[in-house]
Amino acid sequence: MFFAGLQDSGNLKYVRGDMFEDVPVADAVLLKSILHDWNDDECSRILKRCKEAISNQHKRGTIKKVIIVDMVVMDSEKVNEENSKTFETQLFFHMLMMVGLTGRERGEEEWAKLFCAAGFSDYKIIPISGLRFLIEVYP
Ligand SMILES: C[S@@+](CC[C@H](N)C(=O)[O-])C[C@H]1O[C@@H](n2cnc3c(N)ncnc32)[C@H](O)[C@@H]1O
Repeated sequence: MFFAGLQDSGNLKYVRGDMFEDVPVADAVLLKSILHDWNDDECSRILKRCKEAISNQHKRGTIKKVIIVDMVVMDSEKVNEENSKTFETQLFFHMLMMVGLTGRERGEEEWAKLFCAAGFSDYKIIPISGLRFLIEVYP
């Protein structure tokens, strides 16, 4: 809804909409720095709309997925001298999301629960640069 009215360019098209109501049909949906803004119920609603969006596309040979770029908070038992600053930064962001918004940063177990609640069957976590991870979620 917030980009409504912007001019399209090349292969980029802006679509008006509210992700809680509807996500346009697609092979894949990318959610970058989105889900950490929202609580579990809100995330579940967004993810269900995303699942519908990729399930309504019937092109053969394409792998349907939701791609999430967000943090995966490290397991506190794995914190050591080398990675403690990363962990502290993740917790800082966690507080920021809880204080300023309804969201939170999530560890793998919390992500897995969300995906399961929204009806997805599997996921894969891929570390990328810095604090962020890429999570592929499959219907
Ligand atoms: C933290 S920003 C992330 C923006 C961008 N993905 C990035 O990584 O820089 C959250 C985005 O969610 C969008 N947003 C918030 N509520 C929305 C809704 N109900 N439907 C669609 N987009 C929404 C905001 O407009 C904003 O662009």
